[in-house]
Amino acid sequence: MSTQPSIENISTILVIGAGTMGRQIAMTAALAGYSTIIQDISEDGLEAARTELEEWAAGRVGKGKLEQSAATSALAALSYSTDLDTAAAHADYIIEAATERLDIKTAIFEKLGVLAPAHAILATNSSTLGSSKVAQVTGRPAQVCNMHFFNPALVMKCVEVVRHESTSDATVEITMELARRLGKEPVLINREIPGFIANRLMGAIQKEALYLADAGIASIDDIDTTARTALGHPMGPFALMDMVGLDVIDFIAQATYAETGLEEDAPNPGIAALVAEGKLGRKTGAGFYNYN
Ligand SMILES: NC(=O)c1ccc[n+]([C@@H]2O[C@H](COP(=O)([O-])OP(=O)(O)OC[C@H]3O[C@@H](n4cnc5c(N)ncnc54)[C@H](O)[C@@H]3O)[C@@H](O)[C@H]2O)c1
Repeated sequence: MSTQPSIENISTILVIGAGTMGRQIAMTAALAGYSTIIQDISEDGLEAARTELEEWAAGRVGKGKLEQSAATSALAALSYSTDLDTAAAHADYIIEAATERLDIKTAIFEKLGVLAPAHAILATNSSTLGSSKVAQVTGRPAQVCNMHFFNPALVMKCVEVVRHESTSDATVEITMELARRLGKEPVLINREIPGFIANRLMGAIQKEALYLADAGIASIDDIDTTARTALGHPMGPFALMDMVGLDVIDFIAQATYAETGLEEDAPNPGIAALVAEGKLGRKTGAGFYNYN
């Protein structure tokens, strides 16, 4: 096989991390016909992913949204492994979706640089870490970029492809085309910026919503109602933050603030207070709203 990356050379995709994102990215790839390996350090995590994906596929078939044959083929195209060495050696395209910690990702990318075939592109699904942070340790920085899916990855159409300073045009083109072949609508971000596009847009709306509420200008409920009834958003900013998880919102704000140092990016104290009280949004039954 050629040592040059090429879309036609991609038959096996490796997804590293079987968590919320990794398992659904892997199923998306399997449904698109790719032989897909999910690798995780946790056997339990892999088992949970397998169970969830089998149940998801059965549910879709039951509702008539997926052919039984397509579900069977996709599940058969998936394999599960704790062995990164073997998995990486067989991969043509790698999407890392492991825990959001730079030390973990750096160690993974360092290994991939050695283990993956020379033609393989190494992408990270990270929401807050630009791929430049892990590119050099691979020894092939031109073949490294962010390929950022949205939660739930089986449903959401957007994929943000983010290039760093030395990402090659070929890496960008192949990643954009791969996203299309996975049934997504990729967008390109020409240089790294915290929050990429979607989280920056969402952040700007959230910031204004928090200002209006904190200043007592309107209630949370009325701000959310306005976003829905005047702007056509499917849900208001407070309901959305509760759905994403206030801990996640706070984490993203902290990471952005650490990177930019701009006062306007400082984490919101009201959100930090809710997080400290254990009110993380829907997943804990309370956040800006009560769900009990
Ligand atoms: N959750 C979201 O809404 C969302 C959306 C877009 C992008 N992301 C990004 O996706 C990545 C994963 O997020 P998540 O929410 O799926 O996390 P998660 O905590 O649900 O899953 C992370 C998985 O990584 C595994 N892991 C940890 N260290 C590993 C290693 N060395 N090798 C292999 N696997 C390892 C863990 O066992 C776990 O199963 C993060 O970079 C995050 O920024 C998350």
